[in-house]
Amino acid sequence: MKTRALILAAGEGTRMRSRLPKVFHEVAGLPILFRVVQAITPLVDNAAVVLGKNFEQSAARLRSFYPDASIFHQDKRLGTGHAVECALPFYKGFNGYVLILPGDLPLLRTDPLSAFLEQSMREEVDCAILAFAPENPSGYGRIVTIENSFSSIVEEKDASIEEKRIPLVNGGVYLFRARHLVEFLHSIENKNSQNEYYLTDLPGVLAGKGFNVRVFSADDPDDFLGVNNREQMAMADTTALIRKKRDLMQSGVTILNPESVRIEDMVEIEPDTTILGPAHIFGKTTIKSGCTIHPGTILRDSTIGENCEIKSYSVITDSIMGADCIVGPMAHLRTGTVLKSGVKVGNFVETKKAVLHPGVKASHLSYLGDTEIGEETNIGAGTITCNYDGEKKHRTEIGKRVFVGSDSQLVAPLSIGDDATIGAGSTITKDVPPCSLAISRARQTVIPDWPKKKKNKKGK
Ligand code: UD1
Ligand code: CA
Repeated sequence: MKTRALILAAGEGTRMRSRLPKVFHEVAGLPILFRVVQAITPLVDNAAVVLGKNFEQSAARLRSFYPDASIFHQDKRLGTGHAVECALPFYKGFNGYVLILPGDLPLLRTDPLSAFLEQSMREEVDCAILAFAPENPSGYGRIVTIENSFSSIVEEKDASIEEKRIPLVNGGVYLFRARHLVEFLHSIENKNSQNEYYLTDLPGVLAGKGFNVRVFSADDPDDFLGVNNREQMAMADTTALIRKKRDLMQSGVTILNPESVRIEDMVEIEPDTTILGPAHIFGKTTIKSGCTIHPGTILRDSTIGENCEIKSYSVITDSIMGADCIVGPMAHLRTGTVLKSGVKVGNFVETKKAVLHPGVKASHLSYLGDTEIGEETNIGAGTITCNYDGEKKHRTEIGKRVFVGSDSQLVAPLSIGDDATIGAGSTITKDVPPCSLAISRARQTVIPDWPKKKKNKKGK
């Protein structure tokens, strides 16, 4: 039977104390809501999301990740039951099941949801609730059973002392028949401590009418960690990272001191790469095989080719490195850096919008910005591309096999031809033709017997 999914994500998220709607906060680099969407996509024909606060902005953000989503607006936060009503056109007239789930379960995975759906279908339920037994049940709705059959869900705030002792709680994931939502949802009331229309009352209503309402327990309580505050968000983040690192290690990546390594969910790392903690690897970063990432490295949205070595305390953002490069220690590759194969970038070298062709070496203390550097060129220690004139940025084009002597300033716009040499300590302001030497420093004066002459000068 066909199944549709409805994600409730219109809550205020008051307990987060944030301007940003709760479900757009990130866990392991991906907004919580997107993680829920990812978990259900393989299981359902189509999905809808109910959004609230900052509706237009939130809807645009969701569409950028999931263009096919049907989106509904709950403009007043009247409870989870009301949120479902706001999506009435999504399930009215539909002859199948609707999987309803909250948008604040970042650790939800496809497998337990799939098992839940299978079990529900097999038992031809009218309504099923996915429950679990957390270490600390406080804050969750309790599953009340009478003589082993489901009776109702009672919210923490409305629970008696006895009910609060019930270890089995509502995971927030339900399966309903679409027609039951249409027929019975409006009969729930808001006579509770929150004056909200609780969706959690509907299974009780259905059970009371003799429908087949079943509770299925999930094995791993982690999947149902609901994020309501920043502490729970940090807990979810930690668990998501542990899962990610476990998967990577199983696939052949070495991670030492794993507790000090952050690898976000969208990161891809090939086998036989070694990550030495502490290290932070953010966003859409790809690391090919055979690399060594030394302690203190921070990588974001970058691609690292095969057999590269990134030495300690290097920071690399929005950059692409080819195979066999060596970077750092303490190198800073900024946006738009492209290192082709076999490039060496050493300590205290900063690059930005810089393309370094194969075999380029910039081993010490340089700023290379808005530049392209031809193959096998050597950039001496302390070389600066002076790319900014106070108003505009300009480019420095450096040819192949150029030797730039130490402590040179290359004042852009500037072009240096192939096989040219720049004398150390030069300030180069004019283009340098191929195969020529450019040098721009005052000639050296040598005065012999200086201590004597100095004394004589003072004596006068
Ligand atoms: C809810 C359940 C609780 C369950 C827990 C599981 C209710 C009344 N309680 O509690 O039994 O154990 O989830 O994590 O459902 N939302 C809306 N519109 C609203 C209110 C909420 O869209 O008017 C959305 C929220 O964005 C959130 C989800 O529904 O994603 C759940 O709401 P939340 O306030 O987090 O409910 P809990 O108190 O966690
Ligand atoms: Ca919640």
